[in-house]
Amino acid sequence: MSVNGPTRVPFILDTDSAQDDCVAILFGLLDPVADMRAITMVAGNVGFEEQVRNAAMTLAVADRLDHCPIHRGCTQPLTRAWASASDVHGDGAGGMTMCIPEGMVSTTHAVDAMLELTSQHPGEISLVCIGPLTNVAAAVIKDRSFVERVKSVYIMGGSNNGRGNITAAAEFNFYVDPEAAQIVFEAGFANVVVVTWDPLTLRDGLLPRSEYEKLTQLGTPLARFFKKLCDHTLAYDESVGVPGSTHPDSLTLACLLHPELIVASSPYRVDVETSSELTRGYSNMQWDKFDAIPNAHVVEAADSKAFFARLRDLLSTATTPALPITGLDV
Ligand code: RIB
Ligand code: CA
Repeated sequence: MSVNGPTRVPFILDTDSAQDDCVAILFGLLDPVADMRAITMVAGNVGFEEQVRNAAMTLAVADRLDHCPIHRGCTQPLTRAWASASDVHGDGAGGMTMCIPEGMVSTTHAVDAMLELTSQHPGEISLVCIGPLTNVAAAVIKDRSFVERVKSVYIMGGSNNGRGNITAAAEFNFYVDPEAAQIVFEAGFANVVVVTWDPLTLRDGLLPRSEYEKLTQLGTPLARFFKKLCDHTLAYDESVGVPGSTHPDSLTLACLLHPELIVASSPYRVDVETSSELTRGYSNMQWDKFDAIPNAHVVEAADSKAFFARLRDLLSTATTPALPITGLDV
């Protein structure tokens, strides 16, 4: 706490903005300690320009159009063809659409934005990576000193000796670009924190439908936006046996902003499978039983109740959308 109120946390949000990614963007825009310096776009969930539109709509619905720049980044994985999750998320925004104002999306590439911002503020800015790690890996390849300039790296990805989601072995973000993920885990970043799909999201980042419906009925434009964002994914999750609305991305950012949400974490050696097509993207997470030098802290438990209480507060915020969003009843 400083004399001017809570100490704010500077970060870059690297995202494949669909569904919960956009909820993470809302945390970045509206949480009192969030100091989001840039949104960088990476190929992942849905069409690249759909992702850009989803991010722009999120700034608009929060009435934060000028909050921070959006930078287009890598439009495909380092070596592989892009793999979509449109079956899971639809277009990532429940059919909502908006005209993006001229100049709202920066002409600076996301990788250059990451390198420039961390050069201007060495040691101060964290990366919050909630999509495939292509942009971050490209930044490491382009300038090795990037690793020393980043304060911490919070990654949504992998499973901790658990189930995948796009395959039995792999979580989506690591599956899409396993080479990028392995480059990041080998790069030598000092403070890496990983929020996983299984068990963490499936246990502590999951909102049962009954609770989900209460959030969607809060009566604010943000609550209605949240419903449009998340309904498609909730229906998909329930269809494959996941009993609720999943929020791995917003939980990852919330863990950076509010470390007290992390109830348990341990050091692990994390590596990502790049050779086998059967287990492509599998996250091998070795705990202290094994003689492997740790390269990350994996979150093992989070305070789900406190996290979703923060989400409720966020969605209760009264905002007047800055631009008309087709498909959103304000
Ligand atoms: O596997 C979960 C990740 O992929 C999240 O980042 C979410 O966006 C999903 O598409
Ligand atoms: Ca994501």
